[in-house]
Formats: sequence, structure tokens, C-alpha cells
Amino acid sequence: MSGTVPGIADDGGITVRHMSNEQNIIELKPERKYLLLPVQDNAPEGRIFMVQDNAASVPGINIRLARERVDYYVPLDVSDFIGRLLQIDVQAVPASSVCWSVLKCSDEFSMDISPAPVYHHTPPYGWMNDPNGMFYKDGTYHLYYQFNPYGCTWGNMHWGHSTSEDLVHWKHEGTALAPDSWGYIFSGSAVLDKENTAGFGENAVVAVYTSSKPTLWTDCQTQSIACSLDGGKTFDKYEGNPVLTSDLRDFRDPKVFWYAPGGHWVMILAAGQEMQIYSSSDLKSWKFESSFGQSQGAHGGVWECPDLVELEVEGTGERKWVLICNLNPGGPFGGSATQYFVGSFDGKKFINESPTVTKWMDWGKDNYASVTWSNAPDGRCIAIGWMSNWQYQNQLPVRGYRGANTIARELGLYERDGEVYLKSAPVSEMYAARERFSSVGPVKVSGMDWKLDFTLPENGAFEVEMSIRNNGAEKIGIVFCNGSGENVSMYYDIARGQFVMDRTESGNVDFSQDFPAVTVAPAETEGTLSLRIFFDRTSAEVFGNGGEFVMTNLLFPSEPYSGMGFFADRGSFTVTSAEIYVIK
Ligand code: FRU
Repeated sequence: MSGTVPGIADDGGITVRHMSNEQNIIELKPERKYLLLPVQDNAPEGRIFMVQDNAASVPGINIRLARERVDYYVPLDVSDFIGRLLQIDVQAVPASSVCWSVLKCSDEFSMDISPAPVYHHTPPYGWMNDPNGMFYKDGTYHLYYQFNPYGCTWGNMHWGHSTSEDLVHWKHEGTALAPDSWGYIFSGSAVLDKENTAGFGENAVVAVYTSSKPTLWTDCQTQSIACSLDGGKTFDKYEGNPVLTSDLRDFRDPKVFWYAPGGHWVMILAAGQEMQIYSSSDLKSWKFESSFGQSQGAHGGVWECPDLVELEVEGTGERKWVLICNLNPGGPFGGSATQYFVGSFDGKKFINESPTVTKWMDWGKDNYASVTWSNAPDGRCIAIGWMSNWQYQNQLPVRGYRGANTIARELGLYERDGEVYLKSAPVSEMYAARERFSSVGPVKVSGMDWKLDFTLPENGAFEVEMSIRNNGAEKIGIVFCNGSGENVSMYYDIARGQFVMDRTESGNVDFSQDFPAVTVAPAETEGTLSLRIFFDRTSAEVFGNGGEFVMTNLLFPSEPYSGMGFFADRGSFTVTSAEIYVIK
């Protein structure tokens, strides 16, 4: 093509042509790496396609280009087009929008995200939901995630990638999987193919994910694979994708693991309101084995993001299988939540040993899509969850990003009254990340007498570890508050055998009617009570009695909670010790 394209400046200028029906063409010869696109979070979605030589890239990018105001910019990588003509076909954006006059090119991109957690994993900017494809290799924990690089609301699902040596401090590694002709990249898992069963190479990392293809009417979900020969940084998609199809509408989130006794791979995936189990010898061809779910557990919504892990029941030497089942909606406090089933698995079929009991992994509103690391060292079983809830995630009052993950949790099993339950404790790496701030106690608290004078670290990122002895109190209360009159109160209700968290006065709660909430966990209230409570600017995670109950809730105080206090109802209790730590 000659250099004379009408309206295109050779000096890196950008021109825009507007046509009928809100159709537009942006034209440029990029000289820099990024075209920065202005976004307005609440504008309707338009769609853009990059066009070269009259052919468009698929499947297009859905983007809320700014109509009245610019909330932030997102980068579109145009480096492949440097010195050549790039046309961008923009659909469903009116010519009167402000975006057209503020487009710009840059070699740099960075975004301030706020309020940003200090020690929780977030995307560098943009939207994040489920953790995906986690695996461990050569001292590094890899974490992928559902990522929209073109906005802070859900869409354009890619796999973002982060790594960590200690499960606490995360490094951004860029984008690992981008949408293709089979669709957006939905949730899935990754395995290390140590024996080269797939033929991609020894120790190839194989990602198994859902391709979700927009169709004329809705979308179509199939399973695809991709392999990485550079330890998870970049992936090549398999040419025979998709490797597993179905006529079901909801058919997604494959979790794959090696079943050593049978010498084969197992895939568990969500299919409507049940989980299906498949087997394979090469990760490419899959055989249906069984399904699980009918009349088991909670069914208030779609089943998603399964996992199947084998764990030892504490103190017994006995091993049992746990089927993790994320459910949305239908959680105990509305919206998303994670239930689990304990039982046996023979490589083909899972059998729930207590079909009449519903068990929840976390008793807060904000731990969803929890799944575990593949190939974790020393037989560890480590889970991480998306710290949010589909009820309000698109409205969270934060800027430049949306979505954080929980702290990583070590899973185990314990028995109580003949029933086996899941235990989730903070990973031991959290000890190394903390530094003592102050020690409180012993403090005796009686009647309605409030003890309110304990100062917290200024930046709102801390842990309080405490043990409490009850002397006949009916309520054992702990409150965290700030100078703006906002507070989160937590208490044991002794008579009911419960631990409660109330976030109705915690700060900004008005952005969604589903946000203000009081969450309740069944709790052991006899003997010494131990709690580890983690705050990180926009969240609180409580682990009771070594993780026998867990409660994760988001919080949006207008300033960090600066004080901690205690309250009792009747009788008294003693905080035998409370250590406050800063987490860095
Ligand atoms: C769960 C989920 C998954 C799906 C992904 C899409 O939060 O709905 O089932 O793969 O999110 O982003």
C-alpha cells in the first residue's frame, strides 16, 4: 500500500471518521507502543476491532469509551503496527462522545489504583475476578486471574499473570492468555506435565481453560488447552482446540490434576448445577466418567469453579477427598459463596459421605471462586479466593481497578461430633511478613463496660492475634473504629455458639443494597478462644481457632480503622493476650 492514505498524518497523528449508526474508524500510523483509550466506567459498551489490510482481529474488544467524561485511560498495545497503517473499527459509540478528542499515544502506561490493599494480590489496573491456573514450580508460585485489561467492569476475559516466592508479595507478569476465535478465556487450571503425556515437552505447563465464544444469541462454552515451555510466562494454544465440547449452556471452569493410583489425568468441571468428572491420558482427549450434585448441598444458583483435593483428617492419619463447589447466587448471606463436600474418590467418581449436610468454606460475603495450587511443595494444599461477591463487584467504590484476592490459605480437615469439616488457616508465610506493632493485655472486660483505647497501625494493614478466656460473658465483643465514626464490630454469641461480624456501619456501604450485612459463623465458644484477624484497608479476614471457621468481608472505611476496643454483655471475659502486627 502506498503512503497516501486520505486523512492519515505521517507524524503519528490520529484521525477519526464518523459514519452512520454510531460506527467510526480511528486511523493512525503508530510511532509509540500504546494507544491510550479513554474510558467512562458507566458508559454503555461499544466494541472495537483492530483492522490491518482489511482484516479484523477477533473477537473484538468491548470497551466503555468515554461519552461525557474520562474516568481513566487503558492501554491498547499497537506495537505490532509501528510505521504501518492501523485502522480501528469502533462500533456503537456516538460521534458526540468526548473520547474522540482525547485519544493519545504513549510508550508508557501506569495507573494509580486506590484504595489499594497493601498485602493482598490485585491486578495492576482494570478488572479481576476468579484466580485461575495456579501452579508451583522451582520456588515460584504462579497465579493467573480473570482479567479485563480494558476497563474496571467485567468483560474481555484474559488470563493476567502474577508470581510470588512467599504467597504474600506478588509481582505482575503481564497477560498470559488473550481471547481468540474460540472466545474469551474463562476460568481454568494449569498442570505440570512431568511425563510429557501431551507431547508438548517435558515439564511443559499446560493450561486448561474454558473458551467462551459470543454467539448471535448468547455464548457457547468449550474447554481448550495451551502449553508453556518457558515456565508459565507465555503460552501457545493447542491447534486442536477446543478439546472438550458439550451441548450444555453452562459448561466451564475445568480443574485438572494427576490421579497417581490410576495413572491418569482427572478433570472436574461445572455443568449447570452439577459437577462432571472426566479422565484422560494425554490432556487432549477426555472421557466422561461421572457427575455429582443432584440433591446434594445448596442449589440456589449455578455451580462454578470446582476443585477436588485429598487431605488428611487432623490427628487420625485418615485421608479423605474434598469437592470444592463455588455457587452463585445462593450463598448463606446472599450472592456468591463456596460450599464443599467431604467423601471418597476412586479416580472416576466422587461420593459424598454426608449427603444431608451443607458445609461452607467461608462464612463472610467475600470469598468466591476458591481453588487450590497445583504441584504445591511438601504436600501442602493451598487455596486462594477472589475477595468479592457478584452481587456488587461491578459497583465497588474503588478507582483504577476492581478485585483483590484473599490471603492464601492452607487447607486441612478436622472432625467435630462425628462430622468432618474443612479448616482454612493463613499460610505460615504470613508470619514472616509481619512485624510487632504493640502488645495488649491481659485485659479484663465486664458487663457493658467498653475498653476502647488500643491504637492500630496507621496504614490500615495489620493483623491482630488474640486469645480470650470467657468468665461467663454472654457476648465477647471486639470493635474496630476510626475518627469518622465508622466501625466494624465482631462478637461471639455464647448462647448461640456463633461468631458474628457486622459491617453495616463500616464506612461506605451505600453503593449497593446488598453490601451492608451481618455475617454469622458457627463457632466453638468453650475454653480458650483464639482469633487471627487480618485487616488490609478494604477487607477483614477472621480465622477462628486455627481456621476452624473463617469469615472474609470487604470494607470501605473513609479512613483506616485506628482504634480497637472490647465489649461484653453480662459476665466478663479476659483477653489474655492480643498482639498487633504491621504487615509489610
Ligand atoms: C465465576 C465465573 C466462572 C467463569 C468466570 C468468567 O466467578 O463466572 O464460572 O469462568 O467467572 O469470568
